[in-house]
Amino acid sequence: MFYHQSAPDGAPVGGGAAGDNGQVQARLAVLGATGSIGRQAIEVATAHRDRLRLVGLSCRTSAEACDALARDARARVVVAERDGDDAVIDLVRADDVDVVVVGIPGIAALRPTLAALDAGKTVAIAAKEVLVVGGHLVRERARQGAGERLRPVDSEHCALWQCLRGEDLDTVESVTLTASGGPFRDTPLEALPGMSAERALQHPTWHMGPKVTVDSATLVNKGYEVIEAHWLFDLPYTAVNAVIHPQSLVHALVRFADGSVKAQLADPDMRLPIQYALLYPERLESPVRRLELRDLSFLPIDPARYPCYTIVLEAASQGPAAMIAVNAADEIAVERFLHGDLAFTAIAGVLERALGIASRSPLGAAPDLASILAFDREVRRELTAKAMV
Ligand SMILES: NC(=O)c1ccc[n+]([C@@H]2O[C@H](COP(=O)([O-])OP(=O)(O)OC[C@H]3O[C@@H](n4cnc5c(N)ncnc54)[C@H](OP(=O)(O)O)[C@@H]3O)[C@@H](O)[C@H]2O)c1
Repeated sequence: MFYHQSAPDGAPVGGGAAGDNGQVQARLAVLGATGSIGRQAIEVATAHRDRLRLVGLSCRTSAEACDALARDARARVVVAERDGDDAVIDLVRADDVDVVVVGIPGIAALRPTLAALDAGKTVAIAAKEVLVVGGHLVRERARQGAGERLRPVDSEHCALWQCLRGEDLDTVESVTLTASGGPFRDTPLEALPGMSAERALQHPTWHMGPKVTVDSATLVNKGYEVIEAHWLFDLPYTAVNAVIHPQSLVHALVRFADGSVKAQLADPDMRLPIQYALLYPERLESPVRRLELRDLSFLPIDPARYPCYTIVLEAASQGPAAMIAVNAADEIAVERFLHGDLAFTAIAGVLERALGIASRSPLGAAPDLASILAFDREVRRELTAKAMV
């Protein structure tokens, strides 16, 4: 049984964003507009301004940069630290917004995502942490109401979405997500403890914000993507796996009951999945460089090099408390690593300690938003108060 079974073309979502204003199909609010995803979403919207209209942009602190990005489209701007988090919620709920692009990293994206879904908006979701800490809430809301309105932006999940179009979803045997392996894929294991933030931020194939780039070096990111695939496509964890694929040209593969495997390939460029999510079901021109088939290689994930991947999967098997705790721990650990206060290889230990905190939590199998946010705060408090990070 698949979450998106009611969408016969394999889309995990439905929910049109058809505007009643001429040709424009969707009026967009871009959350995290000054970031990597946000800027690329604005680029896509600008290139397809006949179909997509920017009406609102948000950021955390970069007011000036956000104003500059909003100028051409005359979109309104919300700066979370200046205007308050509730102003972001008001933006996603606004009558003139059809589609909300969620490009805010961390648990901060959870409330706006749920508010957008509650208000009947279509959500193009890049923020995987939202599904890690509150996948059950997102799925519940995306399912209810007139249509399913959740569009994956992460390249691997966009690839799955494309591979599943037109397929009978009950015939899916397993899915495979690919991982570049990050900047330390070939670094000798004994050198890993000394790796600096500067080195960790040099991702070999993708140019992304700092949090997700460090998460790609530890493979926390790939663990999160397994959880994301579970919630987006209602796949059991046993049917989702990942391999190292250094070229980042194959984004995901689906194996069917008859042994056939479908894959989606493209140059690593986030404008493609963003455009797919915003213009779905249309495929239109894009500036993405055309793929040249080079030697493709696939390798298993080495748990000694990537202990964080194993820990995230362990959290997924334990349930919401463990996932919320690991997410909070990772946000803190990555921040400390980026400031030079924590060794790269110490990140895994922080996640382990978070699992310990979660094991004593009474949080149930489907916590509500307030319980998620309260437990997130508790984990952060405990980790910092007891100098566990
Ligand atoms: N970048 C990619 O290629 C990529 C690919 C797949 C998935 N993702 C996911 O997409 C999300 C965004 O990643 P990114 O790389 O675009 O991040 P990023 O470049 O660091 O940008 C983050 C954006 O979010 C804003 N922001 C940060 N914290 C906020 C808060 N507490 N409240 C409101 N706004 C906040 C930032 O505003 P300021 O500029 O004012 O700080 C900025 O606009 C992450 O969940 C990531 O895992 C990213």
